[in-house]
Amino acid sequence: MGISIDLSKAEGYLGKDELKEAKAKAAAVCRLLYEREDKDKVLGWLAEDTSVLQLGQIKAKAEEIRREADVFVIVGVGGSNQAARGVIEALPRPDGPKVMYLGNTLSPYTIRETLKEMEGKSVFINVIAKNFETLEPGSHFRVLRQWMGSRYDKEEMARRIIVTGTKGSRLEEIAAENGYLFLQFPVPVGGRYSAFTPVGLFPIAAAGLDVDEYLAGMAAAQKDCREHGEDNPAVRYGAVRQLLYGRGYDIEMMVSFEPRYGFFTKWWVQLFGESEGKEKRGIFPAASIYSEDLHSIGQYMQDGRRNLIETFVSVKEPGALVAVDPCPAYGDGFDYLDGMDFADINRAAEEATWEAHLRGGVPCIRFEADRVSERSFGELYYYFMVACAVSGELMGINPFDQEGVEEYKRSMFAALGK
Ligand code: PA5
Repeated sequence: MGISIDLSKAEGYLGKDELKEAKAKAAAVCRLLYEREDKDKVLGWLAEDTSVLQLGQIKAKAEEIRREADVFVIVGVGGSNQAARGVIEALPRPDGPKVMYLGNTLSPYTIRETLKEMEGKSVFINVIAKNFETLEPGSHFRVLRQWMGSRYDKEEMARRIIVTGTKGSRLEEIAAENGYLFLQFPVPVGGRYSAFTPVGLFPIAAAGLDVDEYLAGMAAAQKDCREHGEDNPAVRYGAVRQLLYGRGYDIEMMVSFEPRYGFFTKWWVQLFGESEGKEKRGIFPAASIYSEDLHSIGQYMQDGRRNLIETFVSVKEPGALVAVDPCPAYGDGFDYLDGMDFADINRAAEEATWEAHLRGGVPCIRFEADRVSERSFGELYYYFMVACAVSGELMGINPFDQEGVEEYKRSMFAALGK
């Protein structure tokens, strides 16, 4: 596997017997997820049927976009854009278009600045919405259609707009009425579990990345979760965080020394926050990028309230080498770094932080990828989705709904006169 997990330091806070029991429970919950009948239509992501993913259409359209687009705009919010953004913003894309994001804000400034940047460029857009009632993507689609309508004729517009929605939705009708390519958002897959449906796959492919590798990572993690009951990262992590939660550790900070994991950690925050924060329960998920945030939140991690779990996402292969060449004439006081590479410096800082926070009484967990790649993202996304489902079930909440979000939507729609 391209991903390994180190739970030893967190397990040190727990008793052997309770750990054994919790792992067995988590494994049973995990098995049941694969076996149970999907009555509520929420488990479609667990054993994705790749034959219904429209991979042929996805790859062909993505190829056209890579050939012709200067700008590719992903229009979606929450589960409808986070997984793709996590991958796209982390990986080099030598032949991809500039990727921009709309449908995820109501800020007029951001909308106007994005439209300004699109001016004079060859633009393709992908609108992603499961039920096509969400305000941000729906309203931005209106703005973008008007913007494109005054720049392209009808046929050209039809070629440049791709929509991802559920069958039978108004979005599907709009696609049919206007000749837009329609990709399916499978009904039994919730937004934040949609990383391996056309929701995640199409933008990743259009951005110039390898969806086969990404799906291969997912398949490897899926096999691991299915075949290695108690001994896969999802179940082990799910069990440990639940036990820690029971001991009062109710904040989990995901941290990485790789800034390019920034949007991945945002995806993780959404997955766990929206899935677990219910009925006045749940571990509060937060994220920080080190070493920068060591100069702010690092103080709290080291010495604040001891209710924190820290989950490191590390990577073995640094992805680049930048050496510090000796330069005695500068007299800058940094000669102790002479001959070192930033790959070693970053790793040393990570190890030092891990040790310091352990000494400070923080249960630390580490997920480590061999390298930042489509494949390792496939593994990471799948493991965390299973872990989240397992964790939620263990906590006794429904990890697949989001009634709290619906509540704010109801009051916002009322305020706007819907
Ligand atoms: O995970 C979820 O279900 C949510 O975050 C949704 O993805 C988000 O609210 C967007 O919903 P929709 O695709 O229906 O616009």
